[in-house]
Amino acid sequence: MTRILGISSRFGILVLIVFIVELFPIASLEASDLQAMKNLSPAKVADFIHAIVEADRKIYTTHIVKRMQEQGIVLAREDWENKNAIPLPAQFLHISSKLVAESGHGIRFRLISRWPIYRRNGPATEFERKALEELERSPDVPQRGIVATGKKQLFQAIYADIAINTTCVTCHNTHPLSPKRDFKTGDLMGGIVVTIPLED
Ligand code: HEC
Repeated sequence: MTRILGISSRFGILVLIVFIVELFPIASLEASDLQAMKNLSPAKVADFIHAIVEADRKIYTTHIVKRMQEQGIVLAREDWENKNAIPLPAQFLHISSKLVAESGHGIRFRLISRWPIYRRNGPATEFERKALEELERSPDVPQRGIVATGKKQLFQAIYADIAINTTCVTCHNTHPLSPKRDFKTGDLMGGIVVTIPLED
């Protein structure tokens, strides 16, 4: 009986090992693979993050904010937390950025503009100010640079934030604190700043 048990438990362990190996296959990395991984530059990583942030921003603004407003269901309002309302697109991005920051990877993203509704959303550095000017000339060319905070080096990329539909334009043009009131669909309204750490 003990012998049978001994065999079956050894068999059990073997099955378990096979199962674990199946779950976590050990990838073999060739030298060429390592080189390919090194080619993943900070600029590329920032581009990947931006692509996702921008897609989410578009979906939220077009398929939720605009659609709900047009159907008279619910409005996006700044004081959404205390009202029967949903967050503004800028607040959506901000909340999402806060959650990402909590994950501890050191990734940040935020909106800035030369015509901010709130001064805190104006360019914070000379690099950001210049980047917004450049983006006005060439919205398709992201502006990239390295910033240092204390001992840490951070990579920053700034992408154009465009008025994709009338909700962006109407709200900013009529907001009491907006310093610019003639935005049109398709205009550059500001920039999305993506910041990532350069070392672990
Ligand atoms: C219903 C109103 C509303 C809509 C719709 C809206 N915004 Fe805003 N936006 C705001 C407010 C209010 C802020 C400031 C939010 C904050 O910092 O808490 C803001 C912030 C911004 C900022 C940062 C600079 C600033 O003005 O403070 C940019 C850039 C921006 N919005 C662009 C857009 C774009 C592009 C769209 C459409 C995709 C859009 N907004 C839609 C109201 C709106």
